[in-house]
This record gives sequence, C-alpha cells and structure tokens, in this order.
Amino acid sequence: MKSLWGGRFSEKQDDFFFSFNASFRFDVRLAEVDIIGSIAYARGLARCRIFNETELTKVVSGLEELLQRVRKEPAWLEANLSSGYEDVHSFVEMELTKLVGDLGKRLHTGRSRNDQVATDLRLYLREAIDRTLCSITDLQDSLLKQAETHDQVVMPGYTHMQKAQPVLFSHYMLSFYEMLKRDTQRLKDCRKRVNIMPLGSGALAGNSLSIDREVLAKDLGFEGITANSLDATSDRDFALEFLSSASIAMMHLSRLAEDLILYCSDEFRFVRMGDQVSTGSSLMPQKKNPDALELIRGKAGRSFGNLMTLLTVMKGLPSCYNKDMQEDKESLFDSIDTWQISLKVMKLVIDTLTLHPETMLREAHKGYMNATDLADYYVAKGLAFREAHHLVGEIVLHAIKQGQTLNDLPLGEYQRFHAETDAEVYRAVALESVLNKKASLGGTAPDRVRDALKQARSDLKL
Ligand code: ARG
Repeated sequence: MKSLWGGRFSEKQDDFFFSFNASFRFDVRLAEVDIIGSIAYARGLARCRIFNETELTKVVSGLEELLQRVRKEPAWLEANLSSGYEDVHSFVEMELTKLVGDLGKRLHTGRSRNDQVATDLRLYLREAIDRTLCSITDLQDSLLKQAETHDQVVMPGYTHMQKAQPVLFSHYMLSFYEMLKRDTQRLKDCRKRVNIMPLGSGALAGNSLSIDREVLAKDLGFEGITANSLDATSDRDFALEFLSSASIAMMHLSRLAEDLILYCSDEFRFVRMGDQVSTGSSLMPQKKNPDALELIRGKAGRSFGNLMTLLTVMKGLPSCYNKDMQEDKESLFDSIDTWQISLKVMKLVIDTLTLHPETMLREAHKGYMNATDLADYYVAKGLAFREAHHLVGEIVLHAIKQGQTLNDLPLGEYQRFHAETDAEVYRAVALESVLNKKASLGGTAPDRVRDALKQARSDLKL
C-alpha cells in the first residue's frame, strides 16, 4: 500500500478496503498529464523558492525521465499497476522520489490532489477533444465524398418511415454532415470551459505559497484560470458538458446507423455494406449482418448511461471535494473512447459503402411522392391549397385502385376530377421537376445541393 498519507493513523488499512478505495487501475491514464502538470508546478515552486535552480533541474529531469518511461515502457507501467499505489498522483510522486531522492517529497508543497486531479482531467480531456474533432472531420470528409460521387442519385425521403418526397442521396449525406458540424461546434465550445486551470486552488481554500497561477496556466497552455478555489476543486460540469456533447453526437451516429441498417436490408436494397465491416452467422450461411452499425447504435446507449452516471454522482454532493467524485473517471474515459471508436468505425462503413442507385430511383417513383406537387399544380390553376389537397387525395385514392401512378394516369381520368387539368400536369409530377422545384435555401433541388456541397467542401478544407 503506497499512499501519500499515514502519520495520523495507528492501524494498517484493510487490504480489501485499500483496493476499493484505490483508483490507480483506471486513473493510470492520467499519468502523462499528471507528470506534465507536475513539471509546471515544480517550476512554480522554484519561483516561490521551494526549489533552487539546481534542485529544480534535478526534479524536472526526474519527471521527464518518468514521462519517457510512461510513454515508452508500457510493460513497466503495467507492472506498477499491481504494486500497491493508491492513485496516479501517489505513483508519480513516489516514483520521482525513487529517482531524485528527498527532493521529490517537496513537490506537493501547497498542492492537493483535489486541484491536481481537476487539472489532470482537464488536460487529458483537452487532448481527447482535439482527437475527437479530427475524427469528426474525417467522417465528414467521407460523407462528402459519397455525396460528391453520387450527386445525381435520387432516393425516396421518408417521414413516419413512409415514403414522403424524393430527395437527392447527396442531400441526405449532407444532412449528417450538418449534424456533425454542430457536434464540432458543441465540442469546441465545451473545450473553452475545459481549458481553464484549477491548479493552485489547493484542497479547497487556495494555495498558501502565493504561487503565480497565471504563469502556471501559460506553461500548461490553459486559456485562463478558475476564479474560485471551492468551485475549481469540486465541480465537474466541464466533464458533464463533454459527456452531453458525446451523447448528442452518438445519437446522431446512431440514427445514421439505423438508416443504413434499414437501407442495406433486402427489403430496401438501397446500399450494400462493405464485407470489411460486416459479419456472418454461425448457423445461417446466407447471412450478412451490419454489426458495425448495430454496435454504434448500441454504444449510443452506453454513452447516455455515462452522462447519467456522472450527473447522478454529482447531484447531491455537498460543496467542495468528496470522494464520490473519483467515480467521474471511468464514465468520462469510456465516453471518450466510445465516441472516438464509433467515429472511426462509421468512417470505415461510409468509405466501404456501395449504392444501388437503380433501386433507389425505382422506389423514388413509387408511393405517390409527387402528390404534393400535383396539389401545387392545382394551386397554380387557382385552387386554394386545402381544396387542392383534398382533390389530390381523391385522385391518389383512385390511382391506387387502378394500380396506376400519377405519371401514367390518363388525362381523361384527371379531367374527371378537375375539368381544367391539361397535359402540363405530367410535367408537374415528373421526378425531375419535383426535385427542381425544391429550390428554397436548404432544399433538395440539384442546384441547391450542388452549392451546399461546394460550400461544405470549402468549409471542411480537406
Ligand atoms: N483519486 C482521487 C480522485 O480521483 C484523487 C483526489 C483525492 N483527493 C482526496 N482528498 N482524497 O478523485
């Protein structure tokens, strides 16, 4: 049992409780940032005359050696996991003391694990956010590539999972590009509040050495410093913001997954999943299952769970640090990993996706998806939209009974419903004009989509 405290105790800690209390098996992930934070803090201490120049050099080179070992010797780190450290902070301080002797014991002067762990988490999360932002961009690039390659492909658009109006496949891809764009904006906004430094807040009340926190923050690349030590050491709202951004983003990925699971089924046959990201059945030889997408959909639930975990951990805590907060880490780390891996797998799915444009087009002709355009045609003839709506409803019902589409219903039949119907009606209900007419900004008209695609491409700058 290697802990940073003990003088006040007369009996040995129970072994079973030790492992219940210890966090090293999971906060080992913070080892690098804990060392980086400690290097900056050691420099801060030297400015407060806790270390002289020679001592500082020794401490910093000890910490740098540890950093190298943590980065390059995974086996050494792994072995340390079972060597009885209470947490990552104890590990770093005690390993440093092994390297530099008693000097290492001065490193924690004025610092608490409370301001230290809050700082570590923010440093770690900042880097994770930057990695996530890159992965979102990579996936957006893949969506745009599919949209650019298939910019002419027409597919049915659905509401209530019923055929509604035809849209361009590229418009559909761009809809997810937009969702991911907002995921990026949310994450960048969250990063602003993550990138504020708690170090120098002590356990709760502040640091007695009048350590220059602004210089510390600059050293560690923080944008600013926290303004209140009680708040700084004991809120985890920055982690909650990340978990909530992750949940919203995973919800987006889950909906894309759900669409593609449907679209690759035999019932739709709009797309074909790459063999690279599909699996077979142990019993049914014919099967090809979209497991990659189902897992992404499933992992969204896991991500929501992590958000709920931390919200619930935090909700009843009295002010300042409480050990409950150690429970923040596993949820946060899991959501970081889950989001990251889901983005990468989704990219692989999109990159290896092939389309069946002829099936999509065939289906886009079915389902009376041009009925609204027929109503618009009658509006142009002078009918109020509500009347036109009713009239077209009757025409559709008639066409269904006849087994005909609005494109091949004879003019005479149209005229039985409305005497002024003329041959122009066929132009109004033709797929091409149906699409072209959706030319409002953000609509699916091919010209609009072409512009949107160009805009997206130049925004993404890849
Ligand atoms: N392992 C602890 C955590 O993750 C570090 C802070 C411990 N602070 C304390 N006062 N025991 O929250």
